[in-house]
Amino acid sequence: MSERTGRPQAPRERAEGRAALVTGAARGIGAATVRALAAEGWSVLAVDRCADDPALPYHLGTRAELDAVVAQAAAGPGQAHGLVADTRDRAAMAAAVAEAERRWGGLDAALAVAGVIAGGVPLWEMPPEQEEAVLSTDLGGVLALARAAIPALLRRPEPRHGRFLAVASAAATRGLPMLAAYCAAKAGVAGLTRALATELRGTGVTANAVSPGSTDTPILAESARLYGLPGAASFAAQQPLDRLLAPEEVAAALAWLAGDGSSGMTGAVVPVDGGLAL
Ligand SMILES: NC(=O)c1ccc[n+]([C@@H]2O[C@H](COP(=O)([O-])OP(=O)(O)OC[C@H]3O[C@@H](n4cnc5c(N)ncnc54)[C@H](O)[C@@H]3O)[C@@H](O)[C@H]2O)c1
Repeated sequence: MSERTGRPQAPRERAEGRAALVTGAARGIGAATVRALAAEGWSVLAVDRCADDPALPYHLGTRAELDAVVAQAAAGPGQAHGLVADTRDRAAMAAAVAEAERRWGGLDAALAVAGVIAGGVPLWEMPPEQEEAVLSTDLGGVLALARAAIPALLRRPEPRHGRFLAVASAAATRGLPMLAAYCAAKAGVAGLTRALATELRGTGVTANAVSPGSTDTPILAESARLYGLPGAASFAAQQPLDRLLAPEEVAAALAWLAGDGSSGMTGAVVPVDGGLAL
């Protein structure tokens, strides 16, 4: 249906002329999302901090990885531009949104994908700096992007088709031992998504989230280490699909949610989890 007239309309096949901002873009689900959007014709500002966090014992994405994602996106029909910025920095998120608007004349979708993990011990034994790293990135970074990006989505003229999208987790609804701060942050993302949907009432801008299950990326390898498991593959048996998800499978859902096909959805937290939450 047309968001303006309420009449049926043909689905838009390409997204040429639309601009998106994706955080956590150097690798994993964020990188796959940049590639998926570019393949649909989007212009994408690919944002990542491209630096390790001294509070965390595993490596984060790198500038070389971000550059590689941008080069892959150049296969088109869309394009990507890489930007090094930390989602926890409100001013940096405002500058990133301004950069997307300067380059492409506006912003149509903002996707908060960046995240970190820490734990492996009960919350009361977790180093406070790790708790802070998880909460400030996995919830605070999503809030910072929402603050910066939603006004830009609303600056688009009506009828709007703006999309604010966040990546939560199966941890948003499950109580996972030794990951209490991560569960708290991801449950916060789900609550934020629902509340933003109501705040955006009638604007044509929607807010939705996906909750991935165990997906084959470095964060899952770190989760395995935290649980003392031999590797990420150990998580496969927990999901009825009986395998890990590929980042591209989560990215496909995010790219669909960014497009016109999701116009009837807002405030949804969609499991893309191989059945993990069942
Ligand atoms: N992989 C899984 O099994 C899984 C499951 C559920 C949810 N998730 C979520 O999916 C999202 C993507 O994770 P992934 O699996 O691709 O992990 P990943 O570690 O491969 O990628 C995360 C990316 O985010 C970047 N990043 C981290 N903190 C940042 C910050 N403050 N500012 C900017 N960039 C930052 C990192 O540099 C890295 O490139 C995360 O929010 C994660 O919590 C992943």
